[in-house]
Amino acid sequence: MLLHIPDILDTEQVVAMRAALEAATWADGRETVGTQGARVKQNQQLPEHSPLRRQLGQVVLDALAGSALYHAAALPLRTLPPRFNRYHGGGHYGFHVDGAVMALPADAGQLRSDISCTLFLNPPEDYDGGELVISDTYGEHEVKLPAGDLIVYPSSSLHRVQAVTRGTRLAAFFWVQSLVRDDSRRRLLFELDTSIQRLTDTGADRDAVLQLTGTYHNLLRQWAET
Ligand code: NI
Repeated sequence: MLLHIPDILDTEQVVAMRAALEAATWADGRETVGTQGARVKQNQQLPEHSPLRRQLGQVVLDALAGSALYHAAALPLRTLPPRFNRYHGGGHYGFHVDGAVMALPADAGQLRSDISCTLFLNPPEDYDGGELVISDTYGEHEVKLPAGDLIVYPSSSLHRVQAVTRGTRLAAFFWVQSLVRDDSRRRLLFELDTSIQRLTDTGADRDAVLQLTGTYHNLLRQWAET
């Protein structure tokens, strides 16, 4: 499931984050990928141990914590601390698939990447190119979102970032291990959850809503892995 979640960060947060990132020292983005990724990756990242990465990453995590839509879609169990990247001057990232298992910091074990997330930090009109292209069974989807908006997509998909030929593209990105590994099951739960919410908001029959809510939780109980 490909889901666009608007307004994770507000304008003030995005402006402050961009200012901090524009003044930061960047490292070669190939440091965090294997040989498959290194061949096709040309961008920069904030260094893994940079205090700024931790600080801005926490801002992103706090913002996610306040988004009911994100939680309904991702059902997050573990989240890798967000990283930040920069593409400019023709920077790009060719088709690749994200690693399946990643180490969490501070010997906190591992994370299976079920969901990949990109949080856009520049308005689309500030740069040319830079579309995130996601290839799934329905074809290729080009994603270029307003600053502060998030795209959530299955980590199993092939994806790439088009070359940035004018301006700069800054983004945060991170991976999530979901309570529900299977993308199609997560989608069913998400659709059920959002329908229940709409029925509740529009004053539908309370007993029917209660029964559907029970069905949601019983499905989640069957499918959740913790
Ligand atoms: Ni990727």
